[in-house]
Amino acid sequence: MTVRINPSILSADFVNMQAELDRIATADLVHVDVMDNHFVPNLTFGPQMVQRIQDVSPIPLDVHLMIADADRWAPGYAELGAASVTFHAEAADDPVKLARRLREIGSRAGIALKPGTDVEPYLQLLPEFDQLLIMTVEPGFGGQSFMAEMMPKLRRAREIVERERLSVWLQVDGGITADTITVAADAGADTFVAGSSVYNSGDPTENIAALRAAAEAHTHAHR
Ligand code: DX5
Ligand code: ZN
Repeated sequence: MTVRINPSILSADFVNMQAELDRIATADLVHVDVMDNHFVPNLTFGPQMVQRIQDVSPIPLDVHLMIADADRWAPGYAELGAASVTFHAEAADDPVKLARRLREIGSRAGIALKPGTDVEPYLQLLPEFDQLLIMTVEPGFGGQSFMAEMMPKLRRAREIVERERLSVWLQVDGGITADTITVAADAGADTFVAGSSVYNSGDPTENIAALRAAAEAHTHAHR
C-alpha cells in the first residue's frame, strides 16, 4: 500500500507561503485547510489565496473545505486546478451529486467526517469518491490531540475498501505525529495530514521522512 504524507499549511507562516511550500516539496500533496468562520470557528483563506498556492506549489493541492454550503462553493476549488477537493458530509446537501461534479471538472473528490459523524451511512457511497477523510480532532484548529477513538471508523472503511476492491484513499487528519501515525496506519489509513508535527519543530523535510518511515513500517505490518 502506498503511503502519502500531506503536510498542512495551517501550521505554516502565512506571509511567507511560497517559501513554506518549497520546504515541503518532498511530500505528496499539500493539505490546504479552507475555513469560513461559520462551519468551524476559525477563518483561513478563500479561492484567491488557494489559486496563488496552486500557481506556486511544487506539489499538487489537497484542499480540505471546512465551509458551509459545500454544494455551492466546492466546484470553484476544482476549477482552479486542485488535484483533490474534500468537503464535509455535514456541510453538503447532496454529496453524491457534488462528488460527480468535482470529478467531472477533473479533481479527485473527497468526503470528510467530523468526529461525531457515523461512518456507516457513507460506506455505500464510497465508489462515488476518491478519498474518505476521517477527522481525528474537531475541525478548526491545528495542534490538538489525536483522538484514537476514531480508529474503529478507519478499520471499518478499510474493510469495505478491501472487500469491494475500491481505490479510495483513506485519509486521517488531526494530531498526527511520528507516534500517532503508527496507530492510524495500523487501523488502515494510507494518507496522512500533519501540520504542527511537520512545521513547528525541526526541519520539515526530515519530519516528512520520519512520518513516512513510521507509517510505512505499520502499513506493511498489518497487511
Ligand atoms: C484541523 C485541520 C488540520 C490541521 C491539522 O481542522 O483540518 O488539517 O492543520 O493540524 P495538526 O496536524 O497540528 O493537528
Ligand atoms: Zn485539514
